[in-house]
Amino acid sequence: MVLRTGRRRNSAITQVFLRPFTKLAVLVSDFREANDILSHRDGIDFKRGKKVDAFPTGLGPECGDIKRQFDHLVTSEGPSDLSLDMDEIVKLDILPKSPKLRALEMSEGALSKSSYMPSPRPFHAVNDLRPSVSAAKRTIKSFVDSQVAAAVEKLHKNVEPESALDYIIHRETKSAEKSGRAPAVHDPRILDITQCYMTAGHDTSTCSMLWIMRRLMADPEQQVRIRQSLRVTYREAYNEQRVPNAQEFGKHSAYLEAFVEEVLRYNCPVPTILVMTKRDTILLGHHIPADTQVFLNLTGPSLTTPSLTIQEQSRNHTARMYRHKAAHDNWDDFDPAAFRPERWLRQDEQGTMIFSPSSGPSLSLSAGNRGCWGQKLGYLEIRILSFMGDV
Ligand code: HEM
Repeated sequence: MVLRTGRRRNSAITQVFLRPFTKLAVLVSDFREANDILSHRDGIDFKRGKKVDAFPTGLGPECGDIKRQFDHLVTSEGPSDLSLDMDEIVKLDILPKSPKLRALEMSEGALSKSSYMPSPRPFHAVNDLRPSVSAAKRTIKSFVDSQVAAAVEKLHKNVEPESALDYIIHRETKSAEKSGRAPAVHDPRILDITQCYMTAGHDTSTCSMLWIMRRLMADPEQQVRIRQSLRVTYREAYNEQRVPNAQEFGKHSAYLEAFVEEVLRYNCPVPTILVMTKRDTILLGHHIPADTQVFLNLTGPSLTTPSLTIQEQSRNHTARMYRHKAAHDNWDDFDPAAFRPERWLRQDEQGTMIFSPSSGPSLSLSAGNRGCWGQKLGYLEIRILSFMGDV
């Protein structure tokens, strides 16, 4: 509701009241301005908001919940009365969550609550005393410990690093060897960073995959177009009825890429992000004091709805100087509120339809130095899942 304040007040910059006894926050609902703050004003006028600073990718031999659920759905009977209405909930046969996933969700819930607290530290100090929370922490720690042990074993067997955690352990071991000390593979920072990756990469990817599945279920025509595009792009793999190998995945199916990009634009998993003013500054002609929370909408006006009017001279000089690489900085002339993957396609000189990520704006993975760190992994996961659906 708060995120729609800009549209309600017909202004790309609005004040928002979050809770009693706290300073008013500011909401920015415009792609060009949000992109400029993230890409050109971060570290100068703005700093990161109250958030986690860092976030294995290995899932262990038992694999992750998505794989288990996927395998289960492939063998179980699907819903018989599938509605084409996008607002209708589809009931699937859902397996119980693994203890690891439950623990991660509990930790994410606490993180989310703490960001609404005036001071997160005392909240965590009290919340961590709850038996369920400390049990969840133990589950995550023991999982990360098991993955650290696996990474150390791989290193001893000279197996090339395969995950972010493998690289961390590899580097720490090499650096310890150089300085003649024991490697600190159980340093709490390794646990923190690993948990940070799991948290940042889990909900976002899952949410995107769910929307992709939902859209595919609701629109058989899109399914057909994606299938055809996949079968042409990965012809050999399709003929041999297998998932493409890592090398083949270097080739991208234009229609799948466009579809995924449109799902990320339209059903953006992270609707807004938070930054803080580092010093007194001017934002769209308004004076904003230092240490003010500024929410940057990654969806809404100019991205998924028509943009709100902004006087060009009220923009910061960096926004006027550096135009974004996208062909347009809003979707106003291209029906922003419609789900249309074709907006991300164009013909090349040979007349072949190609994926064109710079057709227009999207901020689903944020931007600038602190944009999504796991972007490539996220896209790869989505591509693999979409392909598996076709095999
Ligand atoms: C489609 C899937 C994904 C989406 C939509 C997404 C979206 C985002 C967004 C919007 C941010 C900025 C958050 C902020 O500034 O507050 C972000 C940051 C981040 N993401 Fe992702 N993400 C995805 C997948 C992943 C994956 C798979 C990983 C890791 C394995 C990951 C790791 C991170 C990290 C570490 C950050 C923090 C970067 C920093 O603050 O420097 N993300 N992501």
